[in-house]
Amino acid sequence: MADRYLRFAGTAPGRFLTRRLGLPQPAPLHRFSPGRPALGGGLLHLTAGKPEFDLAPVLARTGLPEDTGTPAAVVLDATGVRDVDALAEVHAALHPVMRSVASSGRIVVLGSPLDPADHHQAAAQQALEGFVRSLGKEIGRGRTVNLVRLTDAGAAESTLRFLLSPKSAYVSGQVIGTGAAQEAEVDWERPLAGRTALVTGGARGIGEAVAATLARDGARVVVLDVPQAEQDARRVAEELGGTALALDITAADAGGRIAAALPDGLDVLVHNAGITRDRRLVNMPAERWSPVLEVNLASVLRTTDALLAAGALRRGGRIVATASIAGLAGNAGQTNYGASKAGVVGLVRSLAPRALAEHGVTVNAVAPGFIETKMTAAVPLFIREAGRRMNSLAQGGLPADVAETTAWLAHPASGAVNGQVVRVCGQSLLGA
Ligand code: NAI
Repeated sequence: MADRYLRFAGTAPGRFLTRRLGLPQPAPLHRFSPGRPALGGGLLHLTAGKPEFDLAPVLARTGLPEDTGTPAAVVLDATGVRDVDALAEVHAALHPVMRSVASSGRIVVLGSPLDPADHHQAAAQQALEGFVRSLGKEIGRGRTVNLVRLTDAGAAESTLRFLLSPKSAYVSGQVIGTGAAQEAEVDWERPLAGRTALVTGGARGIGEAVAATLARDGARVVVLDVPQAEQDARRVAEELGGTALALDITAADAGGRIAAALPDGLDVLVHNAGITRDRRLVNMPAERWSPVLEVNLASVLRTTDALLAAGALRRGGRIVATASIAGLAGNAGQTNYGASKAGVVGLVRSLAPRALAEHGVTVNAVAPGFIETKMTAAVPLFIREAGRRMNSLAQGGLPADVAETTAWLAHPASGAVNGQVVRVCGQSLLGA
């Protein structure tokens, strides 16, 4: 599973050779660890156009010191960009600082929602997406670039704290919409303390990392997995001080059984269980089609409906489903998987506003790209190498990257983030 190329490219001869041969130059990413919880530098706050909000207090609470020398975080407030002329200010603000942004640094551009009544504003604000995605592709050195559309400064705090931290190391080229702020009392050290989180497929891989990260953030975790994986589920649960639930999520009564196992209710539901049965459509019998749609989509719909109907998800609850870039961009040999994961996106976008209005629960999805797991270690070498390199960071992500993104969406202060599909893909070249 080790990415030997990444290690070699980090040595002096590796740097020389990869540059000479025009090969990808992945930089080691600064990921969150208790010993290095923050970016290794300060914050530079820039503006373009007349800002719509006063973001200074929110940015001050990130704890990043002000830095105009070698900033690790650059926030460009472009919420007031309403026409093409104002876009020149985006260039004027960022062009002079590009050389000084630290390795593994972050650029976050703040925009406004597109105004359907003003096509000049809409053009200028949409332009920010092309700008951010292009800058993400060229910036290099483990640096990321993302766009957050704001309707309310207070609603952005959990999102800014996430994007301006090592927790978002593998999230780049994303456009994240935020809505109105939801009131929540927050302990930023252990935000999920006193909350219960259930992770399906939590016995290994990405699900195991999600369970560990939610437990780190204070949640009592329930690790759900198929009866065949019960031993692993128990091991994970014991390590995290949680409990295991041996259950096939495709069982018709899975929702009812989860509700029965959690009589006090649930705060965070992570639909992570997923399977692949790859084959081109021409060679794909129904036996390979159905289980993928059943595990990845039908059971997600069924359990979500059952748990919401039973009132098992408490107000302020969070549902995080797992899509995939294969569901956004498509992938040869994965018509079944791509369909199931695109279905997850449809579910999230449709249910999110209603779930928030009726139950006070947000619904979002993570869409992982190439993540280093047992699943991807089994991929043939050449395809694996292509998967690893074909993204702006020129390396695969780790299960922890998906887990950190899930933890941000599960955060009590993330109530303004709803109906979003956030790719954790290092800005994969596949799809938008
Ligand atoms: P994995 O195969 O390592 O783990 C999946 C877990 O789900 C296993 O523990 C399995 O026993 C469990 N599971 C499968 N069917 C189940 C069922 N019917 N009921 C309960 N549990 C069940 O997979 P990995 O790589 O950790 O993926 C996790 C999720 O992320 C999946 O939804 C996958 O589609 C998605 N994903 C993964 C990517 C990657 O690069 N690894 C890329 C994009 C999406």
